[in-house]
Amino acid sequence: MSGTLISPSILAADFANLQSQVELINSSNADYLHIDIMDGVFVPNISFGFPVAEAIHRHSTKPLDFHLMIQRPEVYLSECKNAGAEIISVHYEGCHHLHRVIQQIKDLGCKAGVVLNPHTPVSTIIDIIEDIDVLLLMSVNPGFGGQKFIEHTLKKTAEARAMIDNFNPKVLLEIDGGVNIKNAASLVEHGANMLVAGNSVFGSADPVATISELKAL
Ligand code: DX5
Ligand code: ZN
Repeated sequence: MSGTLISPSILAADFANLQSQVELINSSNADYLHIDIMDGVFVPNISFGFPVAEAIHRHSTKPLDFHLMIQRPEVYLSECKNAGAEIISVHYEGCHHLHRVIQQIKDLGCKAGVVLNPHTPVSTIIDIIEDIDVLLLMSVNPGFGGQKFIEHTLKKTAEARAMIDNFNPKVLLEIDGGVNIKNAASLVEHGANMLVAGNSVFGSADPVATISELKAL
């Protein structure tokens, strides 16, 4: 086992059967449950809001990994905490005062993550890396599940691994978008240690087995 952390994305679940989908993940060896919050402004899509996230939290035995694809995420940090967030990740591109937002997340007792869109260089986080717990690299443009993995992410993953090893080795390096059984091993080889997987898990014949396969890569 590589020890790679797996965070299945509930965005790809059957929302009409959310409780059973959460219980399916509970029965797997996933490490987290990934919660995608979209506002229709920062990204051209709306997912679900905090009442739904709270309902997921009531049934989930996995820690929740919140990915905020929203403008002004600082307004909603307490809602995330109340909905069971262990990790709260905010976009570099969505925060004017990223350092302050990171401190606010930590003050709530959560792990703080920064997310980079595909076009944003890894080098841009040099002055915040010592303050964060998670670096999440988007391997698709955020807003939708089921998109094709952007291959350039592999190069960014290696750059991020080098920066993390140099400046703050405890940072988790998470990759999100189009991750599947075919590209996961390469991502881990390039330095990722946490993988989000939506459609490749919930769209597979046996999601529990797929999660085990991803962990074992
Ligand atoms: C995309 C979301 C992802 C998405 C991943 O905007 O941030 O977390 O749910 O889904 P897949 O794995 O299907 O690309
Ligand atoms: Zn996500």
